[in-house]
Amino acid sequence: YKLWLQYYPIENPSYWQTSTLKNYQIIGTSETIDIIKTELETAAAGLISKINPSVKNQKNTSNALLIAKYQDLNLNEIPKEQISQLGNEGYAIFLHNKSKQTVVTANSDIGLLYGTFRLLQMIQVGKIIPKEGIFQTPKINHRVLNHWDNLDRTVERGYAGFSIWNWHRLPRHIDQQYHDYARANASIGINGTVLTNVNANSLVLTPAYLEKVKALADVFRPYGIKVYLTARFSSPIEIGKLPTADPLDEDVQAWWKDKAKEIYEYIPDFGGFVVKADSEGQPGPHNYKRTQADGANMLAEALEPYGGIVMWRAFVYSEHTPDDRHKQAYNEFKPLDGKFKENVIIQVKNGAIDFQPREPFHPMFGAMPATPLMMEFQITQEYLGHDTHLAFLAPLFEEVLKEDTFREGAGSQIAKVIDGTLHNHKLTAMAGVANIGSDRNWTGHHFHQANWYTYGKMAWDPYLNSAEIAEEWLKLTFTSDKNFVEPIQNMMLASREMVVNYMTPLGLHHIMAESHHYGPGPWVTGGRRADWTATYYHQASETGIGFDRTKTGSNALEQYAEPIQKLWGDVETIPEEHLLWFHHLPWSHKLQNGKSLWDNIAIHYQKGVDEAKANVKLWETMQGKIDHERFAHVHSFLKIQAEEAIWWKDACLAYFSQFSKLPLPDGVENPA
Ligand code: GCU
Repeated sequence: YKLWLQYYPIENPSYWQTSTLKNYQIIGTSETIDIIKTELETAAAGLISKINPSVKNQKNTSNALLIAKYQDLNLNEIPKEQISQLGNEGYAIFLHNKSKQTVVTANSDIGLLYGTFRLLQMIQVGKIIPKEGIFQTPKINHRVLNHWDNLDRTVERGYAGFSIWNWHRLPRHIDQQYHDYARANASIGINGTVLTNVNANSLVLTPAYLEKVKALADVFRPYGIKVYLTARFSSPIEIGKLPTADPLDEDVQAWWKDKAKEIYEYIPDFGGFVVKADSEGQPGPHNYKRTQADGANMLAEALEPYGGIVMWRAFVYSEHTPDDRHKQAYNEFKPLDGKFKENVIIQVKNGAIDFQPREPFHPMFGAMPATPLMMEFQITQEYLGHDTHLAFLAPLFEEVLKEDTFREGAGSQIAKVIDGTLHNHKLTAMAGVANIGSDRNWTGHHFHQANWYTYGKMAWDPYLNSAEIAEEWLKLTFTSDKNFVEPIQNMMLASREMVVNYMTPLGLHHIMAESHHYGPGPWVTGGRRADWTATYYHQASETGIGFDRTKTGSNALEQYAEPIQKLWGDVETIPEEHLLWFHHLPWSHKLQNGKSLWDNIAIHYQKGVDEAKANVKLWETMQGKIDHERFAHVHSFLKIQAEEAIWWKDACLAYFSQFSKLPLPDGVENPA
């Protein structure tokens, strides 16, 4: 329940660790400085609680740890320019040669807070400060969680209980959990939170709710976290009593300007709006035959005087548009490149459909050089087994961030689009759809805390690698015992691919059960909307399986840069993991291993099952290495996962075999 802030005793604390934690001096006064002091006290009480009291009480005359803003230090060793490059949120940690002190410095108190958390994480996992010191600045400016939380405390796609925002008790009651939440986020560098669901309720923009939002913003501010809200496009009608929400209507524009002014009176550092428009029944500029730019710019103009931003979502598609859903956002936004105001950033999901266990990257990345684009990852596991299935998402995030868009030649990775370096954008952001709820452990599955942690770390630095994150998270959260960390790190790292194997191997997608998306549903057909049905996506028939997105099909491939079109357009060169996303192939088609497509599909499903079963066995050998409570919780969830991997395999293979009419290959178990 303490997440990655366990501060369990270090086995044999070194002199450095002990004195650093015991003899510190902090210069400055602010609420943030108070938070730093409390954190150090809490950490010391845990990390070095086991050491001999005589050592513990040994106070040095000099302070072993010095935490202060650069302007309050008298330091010649580090040149001023190096510090000014740290900006507002960066920090430096180094050992001061002369005084032998550990120094944490920054340009702001928030930088000091981030530096302190980093130092404490290093102490817990046993990392030492390198000779040259540590200089860290976030590569992305706005690192926000998107809560899909409704005002009635239900959470859309939330699997860890109810919303932690208790609107009923706010603003008069400030729950300790809000502080705990802010502290956890600050410890991994998250600096923004969008409190409300993208399927927005305009009521949150009324004074009764703004007072509550203000109360939360006041709690979060000293932790460096800004509050944002989702803006329902039709709010001027619903709460403003205007006859229209047309973005080019002067009264509508004036309404939003007044609304922004009112919000900033409550919350002077309000971050801005996230908007879902013209998608899945949400109102938007289309209702008035206006463009996404017209809509976004109207809101941007209202926020501009106060420094707020608009995160306008690219998740725009409709069942009335005849095109392949994959193509719709690109078609809508690409012609608008360069037409957005400076404080607008387009929020793009990692893939073109919807947070599948694996998706090829969204073709908009890199394709709109004149517009800042931000990444939207989903931390909550809508399509990856909700709360009970272990899926460590770092490999998914890493895979997407490392993809080369080829838009400015080879080396145009998505991470460079997101951090603004590819096309020289100053406004940069990343959003993660939160997996946080009222469950005692915050995220349902204990291991899903790792996905929240990963998100924060990768939003700070999108070039990090999954293995390091997993190792650090395990050590912070459980133990440094390498007999636990090594095997479980491997289990985590392989878990997302395991889910792909038993759910949607070889580029299959969106074959989950209808609407809740838990469990298999490849048979889902007809229904309310074709583009929400599995048969639309897998296109299985006696002739084969897969969605033809090449020239002979929807040609979604043309939305990618030339080298990708070439590579993925050819069944021989496309990575097999994307095969059926782009190609419709006969069941007998041979894959690289010389076996048929049908056999390979079956083998992947079986592999996923075998891995899920092996995880249960592996976990059982961990008994006693961590506390029983968490051991037992994870154990029961892993068992559910193993059972449901079989359910997935059986359901999908039984369903597809009616078309393939082929027997299961050796080694693949028949459905029970
Ligand atoms: C998915 C999800 C919805 C969500 C939507 C969005 O379609 O199922 O619940 O509202 O994404 O991102 O807007």
